[in-house]
Amino acid sequence: MGMGADPQRAADVADAMRALARTGFLPAEQRAYAAQDRPLPLWHGQTNSQPSTVATMLRLLEVPVGGRVLDVGAGSGWTTALLARLVGPGGSVLGLELDPQLARWGAANLAAQRMPWATLEPAAPDVLGRPVEGGWPRILVSAAPRSMPAELVAQLAEDGGRMVIPVRSTLQVVLRAEGRTTVTSHGSYSFVPLR
Ligand SMILES: C[S@@+](CC[C@H](N)C(=O)[O-])C[C@H]1O[C@@H](n2cnc3c(N)ncnc32)[C@H](O)[C@@H]1O
Repeated sequence: MGMGADPQRAADVADAMRALARTGFLPAEQRAYAAQDRPLPLWHGQTNSQPSTVATMLRLLEVPVGGRVLDVGAGSGWTTALLARLVGPGGSVLGLELDPQLARWGAANLAAQRMPWATLEPAAPDVLGRPVEGGWPRILVSAAPRSMPAELVAQLAEDGGRMVIPVRSTLQVVLRAEGRTTVTSHGSYSFVPLR
């Protein structure tokens, strides 16, 4: 934030999670379990992530109001919707999901929340993430690669771009600033594999 800028309201993760009920992002047979703090099965072996883990990841991402976010592994659309709520109508969120059936269902779940500044698209099987001019200020990854993907680090904005990504079972934060990339570790979690 530059000198003299209006202080931005801190994006409030707890408020976003209260406003966007998980039930809207679960198959009918799983909705009864929405309040349980555990991952819930979608299909094809994929899951709706554990709420406390989602909250931790969103906090670590430090999403600014008006920000642009890439959400890799968007699944049910829940994280895409939460990010949309955090950035607000002045921001934008692109969710990418590799499983085409999940991507269709996740896009419909997201559309029902009426936040048209967020979209959920099928990921191209041969391209990880989505390279854009100038890079993404924020990237969230909800599936775990075996090692840090250079393609995604390269898609981060060079001036303060921040990515939250599980690598194997360690949650990592990648920051690109002042010509350097720094990586910090934030505990152990279990994730479905990034494919
Ligand atoms: C934990 S799940 C879904 C979490 C999701 N954010 C949610 O809120 O429901 C992670 C998703 O990543 C997807 N995935 C795996 N590899 C991917 C890739 N290369 N690009 C996009 N999505 C991928 C999986 O199909 C799976 O649906």
